[in-house]
Amino acid sequence: MKSTVFINISRIYGVENNQIRTGVEMSDVPEITDAWMRVIDGRIAGFGKMADLEIGSDHVVDLEGKVVLPSFVDVHTHTVFAETREQEFSDRLHGMTYQEIAERGGGILNSARKLRALSEEELYKRSKSRLRKLIELGTGAIEIKSGYGLDTESEKKMLRVARKLGEEFNLPVKTTFLGAHAVPERCNGNTDEYVREIIDEMLPEIVRSGLADYVDVFCEKGYFGVEHTVSIIEAAQKLGLKARIHVNQFNSIGGIQMAVQHKILSVEHLEEMSSEDFNFLENSDLFAVALPACSFFLKIPYTPVRELIKRNVRVVLASDFNPGSTPTGNMSFIFSLGCLYMKMTPEEVFNSVTINAAHCLELGDETGSISIGKRANFITLERGSSLATLAYFFADDILQDVYLNGVQMRM
Ligand code: NIG
Ligand code: FE
Repeated sequence: MKSTVFINISRIYGVENNQIRTGVEMSDVPEITDAWMRVIDGRIAGFGKMADLEIGSDHVVDLEGKVVLPSFVDVHTHTVFAETREQEFSDRLHGMTYQEIAERGGGILNSARKLRALSEEELYKRSKSRLRKLIELGTGAIEIKSGYGLDTESEKKMLRVARKLGEEFNLPVKTTFLGAHAVPERCNGNTDEYVREIIDEMLPEIVRSGLADYVDVFCEKGYFGVEHTVSIIEAAQKLGLKARIHVNQFNSIGGIQMAVQHKILSVEHLEEMSSEDFNFLENSDLFAVALPACSFFLKIPYTPVRELIKRNVRVVLASDFNPGSTPTGNMSFIFSLGCLYMKMTPEEVFNSVTINAAHCLELGDETGSISIGKRANFITLERGSSLATLAYFFADDILQDVYLNGVQMRM
């Protein structure tokens, strides 16, 4: 048994903060000051006031007044990809839109070509160094999607890499099968044909392999319409796979109503919202995932999070890390964007990237707060910092320490 006690913590944010927060509860962050925290075998075993500390045979780490927060939980990423896409970025800077680039065979299809040509070993190596960087930036649990394979074997290759990354870092990684990310070139624009292939061949094999925890569909004009999305979700649900969808990124096409009716886990993106969309989501138990760094990079609207909070929706912020629309997975930057561009308070953002995010990935018992029994995945800030400090330094890396299972990941 390995026991470490961290002493002289000026403040711990998110103490026993275990329930999903909505509405006005989003503003509440339970904390203790002048605290210690004990970690046994990688799990949080206790905490309390310094005045009441009894040290036994513990290894002692003096945090010298630093502030402790639970690690970020990033619920939406495409971390496993082959190559970045600066050329398309440059084309956008010269006036093309993300959709125009996709229409000429770039975008997701470009990434798919590169991924299929890359060996699994090399894909793993590149993804591993990306994930290491994300961990150093404070991400302590993550969701990773497939969706750049677009055929059974290449999708499985991506999902195997994602699974292996979780084992490598002993980090909770939830995997999502996103075969319905775009219609591959071999189908010549025949979406019906590809959806049939997903349902008849890909989904059964993915489920049999046990490589995916969820299914996802890019429900959007020019990708997969609501009817196609429904048929994929229903087929997945029959096989025991829960769904989360990309929806309302560029257009509101009825995907949210469908999602509520089909009891899916989460609706993600939501940059374009109609008043009916808000009505359907109000008081629902779906998670609404906003991806502000995608809005920032594509210069599209930010998800109207204030309205979602007003409607008691379970709000989560995530990165959307991917080579096309969001080339960063830095959750501190997401934190800043939430405050700066979505009019959220630091407390609301904190809850949306920790406890709400943990529940969104069904990891509420594992992570998302400083609670007894949970993984000791936490970050520290300099003495005197507050949650606002994280938002304020929008372009600086201000994390002091990053602990994963009680082990320091920053040297
Ligand atoms: O969430 N919108 C769909 N998928 C990604 C972008 C994928 C890409 O451009 O490679 C997103 O923004
Ligand atoms: Fe995405």
